[in-house]
Amino acid sequence: MIEFQLQTLLEARHVVVFTGAGVSAESGIPTFRDALTGLWSRFDPAALATPEAFRKDPALVWGWYEWRRSKVLAASPNAAHLAIAELARRVPKLTVITQNVDDLHERAGSRDVIHLHGSLHAPRCFACTRPYAGSLDPLNEPEEGRSLEPPRCHRCNGKIRPGVVWFGESLPAQAWREAMAAAEDCDLLLSIGTSGLVQPAAQIPRMARARGATVVHVNLQPESVEGDNEFSLVGRAAEILPGLLGGGEKKYCE
Ligand code: OAD
Repeated sequence: MIEFQLQTLLEARHVVVFTGAGVSAESGIPTFRDALTGLWSRFDPAALATPEAFRKDPALVWGWYEWRRSKVLAASPNAAHLAIAELARRVPKLTVITQNVDDLHERAGSRDVIHLHGSLHAPRCFACTRPYAGSLDPLNEPEEGRSLEPPRCHRCNGKIRPGVVWFGESLPAQAWREAMAAAEDCDLLLSIGTSGLVQPAAQIPRMARARGATVVHVNLQPESVEGDNEFSLVGRAAEILPGLLGGGEKKYCE
């Protein structure tokens, strides 16, 4: 049986924590691909998460993302987010790379989080791409599926779009460069709560492994692993991550 030694975690020079929707699941934020509860099992991504969808029905798309933003505003970081921020205080260097568009890592205390898929909290103009200069309503009574007219750009009067990466769009160039550099530099990468199905983000753990880093997956589902420097820890992120930090001599088994 292969075992992931906790000592490996604490002796790492540079830890990369690569997260997906599963890390926020226990804060009440739905994932995308989990059966029944995942957003993409209930909503059509082509109608909501593409530039074409926004052109066709901007109010439908804006309303959907505002509903999601309201869920994030009402949520709090969970024990997994907090453990990641704590781990950063215990190792020489830690970089958080997230595919999530929420701000729960930041609210847990993580710094300089790399957002590969943008943010619900950074809307910008669909026409001129400038960041939105106005403020968004707090949305006290969100309704799923409610259309909402997007605000207008203060500069060009274009429609404001959510600051997230849609299907068919490129990742933010600087975030991608920084993520690749961290993946190539780290000696340990924790891949937490991601299905690893969306490219190019899914390359990040592979890049780290190709450079010799140990890769540890934390997921409700077992991951298939190769070699003696890849591990799969099966369970809830909010349970496993605090356990890793407080684990002392404990060993986690594949
Ligand atoms: P997915 O919904 O594809 O995958 C979530 C993963 O988290 C699954 O593998 C679950 O088994 C796991 N999971 C669920 N709850 C968990 C828990 N409590 N603890 C640990 N693991 C848990 O979400 P992502 O991989 O993040 O893109 O999806 C990647 C991208 O696809 C998203 O960033 C989004 C989406 O389309 C954009 O918005 C551009």
